[in-house]
Amino acid sequence: MKTITVWMFAMACLWCAFDGCRGTLLTTACMKFEEDYNFKEDKYVGTWYEVRRLGESEASPHEDCVVMNYRLGDQGSFTILQSYQVGDDGTPIYRSGRAEPKVYQEARIPKFLERFNTTNPADPDISIDIVATDYISYAIVYSCTSINSTHYAELSWVLSRQPALAKNVVELVNLFLEARFTREDQKWRATQQTADFCKPSLVEVADKHSAGVRAFASVSFVLFGILLAQMFQ
Ligand SMILES: *[C@@H]1O[C@H](CO)[C@@H](O)[C@H](O)[C@H]1NC(C)=O
Ligand SMILES: *[C@@H]1O[C@H](CO)[C@@H](O)[C@H](O)[C@H]1NC(C)=O
Repeated sequence: MKTITVWMFAMACLWCAFDGCRGTLLTTACMKFEEDYNFKEDKYVGTWYEVRRLGESEASPHEDCVVMNYRLGDQGSFTILQSYQVGDDGTPIYRSGRAEPKVYQEARIPKFLERFNTTNPADPDISIDIVATDYISYAIVYSCTSINSTHYAELSWVLSRQPALAKNVVELVNLFLEARFTREDQKWRATQQTADFCKPSLVEVADKHSAGVRAFASVSFVLFGILLAQMFQ
C-alpha cells in the first residue's frame, strides 16, 4: 500500500493532468547538468519528434505535433525546420531557425543559442542544452533563459526519433527525469504525436523524401553499372 501511495505521489509530481501545467515555468536559478559526454553534431542531425514538454513558451503555449529537422550548418551550427499544430483541427505551422554553439569554459554539455524566424526581434535567443542523447532514439533538451534581473524562464523537452519512444527508452528517460527534475513545480506534459491528431507535416515528408532520393540514386547507379557491363560484354 505504501509503495502505491509513494508511486502515485511521484506520478502526480512528475506529470500533470491535461491542462494543469500550461504556463511559463519560472525559476531564480537555472539547473546545472554535469553529464560529461563528447557531443557529435553529425549524429544529432535528422528528424526529431517532441514527445514531452516541461513549461510552455509564453508566445505559443498550445503547440502539439512538434516535429523538427536538424541539418548541419557552418561552424558547428544547425539549421532547423520545425512544424507544430494547435488543436486537433489545426494544420501544421512552419518555422525555420538556427542554433549556434555557445562556448562556456565550465560547460560539460553541448550548449546552443536558438532563434526562429518567428521569434520577436525584442526577444533574446533561447539557450538550448542537450543534456542527454543516444542520437538514435531520444534526446533530453533543457532551456533556461533570463527574463529579468532575478528570474529565468525554464523549458525542457524530450525528443524522440519516432513519434513515440520505445518502452525500454521510456524507462531510461523516466529515471533521468525523476532524478534531475525534482522541484514540485516541474511537471511534464505528454505532447500529442498520434497520427489521428497530427496532420502530416512537410518536415517529416522532406526527410523521408531525401532518404527516398538517396535510395533512388543508388538504384540508378547499380542500373548504370549493369548497363556498362552489358555494353562491354
Ligand atoms: C518562417 O519559415 C517558414 C519555413 O521556412 C516559412 O514557411 C514561414 O513563412 C516563415 N515565417 C516568417 C514569419 O518569416
Ligand atoms: C521578474 O519577473 C518575475 C516574474 O514575472 C517577477 O515576479 C519579479 O518580480 C521580476 N523581478 C524584477 C526585479 O523585476
